Amino acid sequence: MTTTVRVPAKINLHLGVGAPREDGFHPLVTVYQAVGLYDDLTAAEAPDWRFGITVADHIEPGSVPTDGDNIVDHAADLLAAHHGIERTGDVLVTKAIPVAGGMAGGSADAAAALVALDRLWDAETSDDDLLGLAAQLGSDVPFALFGGTALGVGRGELVTPVVDTGTWWWVVVPSAEGLSTPEVYRHFDELFPDAPAEPPAADGLLAALASRDPHQLGALLHNDLQAAACDLRPDLEALIERGEAAGAIRGLVSGSGPTVVFLCESGDHARAVAGSLDESVVLVANGPVAGAHVVHYDTSG
Ligand code: C5P
Repeated sequence: MTTTVRVPAKINLHLGVGAPREDGFHPLVTVYQAVGLYDDLTAAEAPDWRFGITVADHIEPGSVPTDGDNIVDHAADLLAAHHGIERTGDVLVTKAIPVAGGMAGGSADAAAALVALDRLWDAETSDDDLLGLAAQLGSDVPFALFGGTALGVGRGELVTPVVDTGTWWWVVVPSAEGLSTPEVYRHFDELFPDAPAEPPAADGLLAALASRDPHQLGALLHNDLQAAACDLRPDLEALIERGEAAGAIRGLVSGSGPTVVFLCESGDHARAVAGSLDESVVLVANGPVAGAHVVHYDTSG
């Protein structure tokens, strides 16, 4: 048996961050959107556990860490332990989501692994249990199961879908070099020692989403980690200015960065903005799109 699960990247349309909690995590009020940039994870039956990664053309092969345990190994361990079974399977991830880019690529792979291995092992994990395991794997993993557009609270793991009937067009500019999420959060703490316990709410942004007007949405995009990411990577601010000068409605650092996303009016507009940026990798994606989902299932192999 072989199955392939496709899972999208996320951006944060609103990322409100509060002062760190006692467990070190930061309370968030965030609005996630899944965008059409995907990793595929294929799992096939095997007598033992094997795991590999291949990358799409626009990803530097050297940017994928090969040492130590991958989050996919952790996902497999957790699901196997939950059912009291052995971890087996031949798993291959094909990456197109930027690595360490603030688009939850690792979290996406963890979510894809849960869905694919649940099928491969015929485990029939309930949705609630799958979400619980996802939350243990990382703050962004539950959202990767949901996809669409959703409100995230807690440390980001408590996810509620929101109605989003728009189609939003993004130019996505990854960076050759990633940023460490913990480092960006640490720098946020240095820059904002008096951050409020309660992160800023997303009410305005949710109303803008309902308007389906990209100019209203553009005015309310918000990322509390942007200052920290730009301070660590001063080139990002200039990139945002270049994209906005090229006609994008608004540029924004994606999550903890360093990927920068630009909201555009339409697909044609996004392609025009993308064409006028001379970064080495410039992608166009729209959202919202579905979360982790099976795209191939073959019982014969
Ligand atoms: O949950 P996840 O494993 O993705 O988090 C990675 C790191 O990002 C955490 O160890 C923490 O340093 C930081 N983080 C945080 N507050 C959050 C989410 C992540 O401080 N809400």
